[in-house]
Amino acid sequence: MQRECTTLRNTHHFSRLCYNLFMTIVQLSRTHAADAARLHIAGQPGTFLTSLGPSVLTVFYQALPQSPAGFGFAAIDNSDRATLGQTLPANRQNPPFPNTLGFISATTSVGALFMELGTRRIGQFLPPLFARFARQPALILRSVQTVLYPFLVRKEHEHHTGATAELLSIMVEPAMRSQGIGAQLMTALLAECRQRQIQHLDVTVDTTNAAAQRFYIRHGFSLSHKFVLYGREMSSYRLGIQ
Ligand SMILES: CC(C)(COP(=O)(O)OP(=O)(O)OC[C@H]1O[C@@H](n2cnc3c(N)ncnc32)[C@H](O)[C@@H]1OP(=O)(O)O)[C@@H](O)C(=O)NCCC(=O)NCCS
Repeated sequence: MQRECTTLRNTHHFSRLCYNLFMTIVQLSRTHAADAARLHIAGQPGTFLTSLGPSVLTVFYQALPQSPAGFGFAAIDNSDRATLGQTLPANRQNPPFPNTLGFISATTSVGALFMELGTRRIGQFLPPLFARFARQPALILRSVQTVLYPFLVRKEHEHHTGATAELLSIMVEPAMRSQGIGAQLMTALLAECRQRQIQHLDVTVDTTNAAAQRFYIRHGFSLSHKFVLYGREMSSYRLGIQ
């Protein structure tokens, strides 16, 4: 039987238990890296970055917010997990969904970010990356494509003037989607872009990812061009920021 919940911010029915969800949006930091890697893998199955595995992605999400070229936000669940009219579940100490409900990340320069990862942060990257390459050598070629990607996609579409940023990833816990968490993360990112006087926000999405494209269009992005990466058609969207 569905319960009626009184909430302050958001309500979530999960495993037939009713929780009050108190969510806060905080700046992305290295402490969110392991959760970000897990959410990335859950949100982008079958993609190249996911195939690099949790260790490489964790190092990536540790490095990103520490870079002058990287920024982002995390949605944190501050819920007390209290159930309404029920005793607390036996596994209260072991919450059914983790603390980080979603995150969004962006960079003011993909090239500068990759350059930093490939120089200052290289020591952190190489051990997990080599371990992955040893198991799956085909990933080496795709890694080279990824490093070249910012230089490939810039060529024909550099018509705009003004500062730009690239939205790198937005991922929400699968069980928590369609409750406005993605919208709140986007709102926080756009406010930060305005503070940084960024005039355009670009995002690249796999053309088969219809839900993500609906989400971007709803937030005002429009299709700017398409290109092929890793043999897949990608759609590049752009938002003008007032
Ligand atoms: C894309 C993504 C980040 C959106 O996050 P989200 O938290 O579900 O986003 P929102 O809830 O703000 O909006 C999405 C949906 O919820 C609905 N919605 C928004 N606010 C809502 C609310 N308060 N209550 C109920 N539904 C709501 C919207 O109508 C939308 O529906 P639709 O996609 O079926 O058209 C999420 O789906 C995701 O993690 N996807 C996998 C990863 C991915 O593909 N990322 C993009 C490429 S990097």
